Amino acid sequence: MLEIAENGRTWILSGPASSYALHLTAEDELLHLHWGPRIALADAEALAVRPLPEYWPFESPLDGREEYPVEGGPRFTRPALSVRTEVRRGTEWSFEAYDTEGDELRLRFRDDGLTITLHYRMRDDILERWVTLDNQGQDPVELLRADSATWTLPDREDGWRLSQLHGRWAAESLLTRTPLTYGEKVIGSRRGHTGHQHLPWVALDTDATEERGEVYGVALGWSGSWRIAVAQLPDARVQITGGAGYDDSGLLRLAAGESFTTPVFAGLWSDGGFGAASRAWHAYQRAYVIPDADQDRPVLFNSWEATNFDISEEQQRTLARRAAAMGVELFVVDDGWFGARTSDRAGLGDWAPNPDRFPSGLKPLGDYVRELGMQFGIWVEPEMINPDSELYRAHPDWVQYQAGRKRTEFRNQLILNLAREDVQEYLWEQLDTLLSSAPIDYVKWDFNRCFTDAGWPGEPYPQRLWVDHVRGFYALLDRLREAHPGVAFESCSGGGGRIDLGVLSRTDQVWTSDNTDPLDRLAIQDGFSQIHPARVMAAWVTDSPNTQLNGRVSSLRFRFVSAMAGVLGVGGDLAEWTEEELAEAGRWVKLYKEIRPLVQHGDLYRLRPPRGGLSAVQYVRGGETVVLAWLQAQKYGEPVPSLRLRGLDPTASYECPETGEVHRGVILLHHGLRTGLRGDLDATVIRLRRI
Ligand code: DGJ
Repeated sequence: MLEIAENGRTWILSGPASSYALHLTAEDELLHLHWGPRIALADAEALAVRPLPEYWPFESPLDGREEYPVEGGPRFTRPALSVRTEVRRGTEWSFEAYDTEGDELRLRFRDDGLTITLHYRMRDDILERWVTLDNQGQDPVELLRADSATWTLPDREDGWRLSQLHGRWAAESLLTRTPLTYGEKVIGSRRGHTGHQHLPWVALDTDATEERGEVYGVALGWSGSWRIAVAQLPDARVQITGGAGYDDSGLLRLAAGESFTTPVFAGLWSDGGFGAASRAWHAYQRAYVIPDADQDRPVLFNSWEATNFDISEEQQRTLARRAAAMGVELFVVDDGWFGARTSDRAGLGDWAPNPDRFPSGLKPLGDYVRELGMQFGIWVEPEMINPDSELYRAHPDWVQYQAGRKRTEFRNQLILNLAREDVQEYLWEQLDTLLSSAPIDYVKWDFNRCFTDAGWPGEPYPQRLWVDHVRGFYALLDRLREAHPGVAFESCSGGGGRIDLGVLSRTDQVWTSDNTDPLDRLAIQDGFSQIHPARVMAAWVTDSPNTQLNGRVSSLRFRFVSAMAGVLGVGGDLAEWTEEELAEAGRWVKLYKEIRPLVQHGDLYRLRPPRGGLSAVQYVRGGETVVLAWLQAQKYGEPVPSLRLRGLDPTASYECPETGEVHRGVILLHHGLRTGLRGDLDATVIRLRRI
């Protein structure tokens, strides 16, 4: 809901539980008024007439209070907008007008030829903010920095605490909470993609728990380099600003008539603790971000850990038969099916099936997989190129490179310059042909290295490739989705290197991590769940001992229950699994399909975080609930604690369909459920239905 004061200078956007208000002063200063519990327009107007504090000239009363601090004038905070023209730097804007479209509010400002429009849209209790910059003047304008939004927190006497999701390859989205102190905490990526190192999300609280307390969260929808800066100013006020690009050295140059729309930066206030905040983020993404989120994601098999690059059609058929018998619904051939790709040294760029491995293309295998009753999927990495490829031999200038400098290879590959239209067109033709050549239902889209030599010889403003690569990637995905509406896409970047709200608005799921060790995964998944829903969190059951990372031995039970907390997949070498293992796997897959509606579409309650002993999550949907619990290690023979469940009706009773046991809701909520777990690396799934 959007309300506007009569004078047209105070606005308030409200969701079911929260409000966000802003006010334009007579001097055209756009001030933040409120972000928190739901308030009325009259409350916002009362806040609007409160005078700004008076400071000695060493501080600015605007700092920490503006909606979108621009560079220049009486401001000392980090600017959200930094602009340069031939004649000067900085912005001095005047208000032009506001307008609304549906529930979107737009405030338009002008500084000479540059129009700056701030956009606000409340979706449930998530506020989406973004900015458009239109150069309507005659001369070019350089955007050194154009953040999507600045968020202002209320004054609190207790210090703020910052939650973030940090990591690296095979250790993504690890949750950490630290007190915020004076100065700035900056996270981001200067790698050209979202990065494994930080998810573009932070949360701030003073004393919240999983169940209770005020939590502010913000998340950026951008899959290139990005930056979020959390600043505690000298008067202890806290502001968060963020957007595309890591530094302020130049984002884009807008020629006369050109415009730039920033990515969306979304924000949430919740007073139900970290759990309620996560559920609100999940519901928002399922309702507004993820395509077709109401549809179930199928159980998949992926060949990567089973075969690596050593693949053949016959071997894939064998795996497919075993996968189908287990109940798998989607069979995905990973890397190694195309060009001269028999190792990571060659082939990227040449997106035609390897004639030695697939003499009649992918269609026969695709048809076979379909006959087995499964969907068929393939792996691609379109933005990359091996120097040893037909494409590179034909177009060595199609990559990102600096004139006269060496071209840095990671994993023997370079990055195509997707900002170029000819590269875009080449990839479109290759991928469109590929998707038309075989019955392909699913594409795993990988990205296995960071930008290093982001140059573009001959281009007057090469810096633009940082933004335009991402825009090119998005455009290609959008075009392919439109031309092949039945095809689902997975975002992968060496595991979880490209997970953000931007890519999620055009992909169906993400590859969470290359770390498929079921124990490590619990922490990765716990962090992931702070912001993103299980509906997109792909998780595979692979071999034991773990082949990729640590050789850890774990039971099929533990591996399955770990992966069943997300979109279940199987990635082990099924040719080596015994008949008993295959049969047991089939029983887990069957159980997963039964609990899938709860996991993929239900509400998540994190009952205990994975910190060494017992951990558990619970999904609730309607009168059904399922608990997935893991015991890492039982110590000193101590009894394993009961799990106090959440989201149940205390007056109802719940029956476990497997055992027929009946539990009273109030007892489950207040005294807990006994799991029966013991020893090391034990796990269980407990279903309950309201009776
Ligand atoms: C990295 C991915 O994360 C893996 O799952 C696999 O697809 C490899 N790339 C293939 O090169």
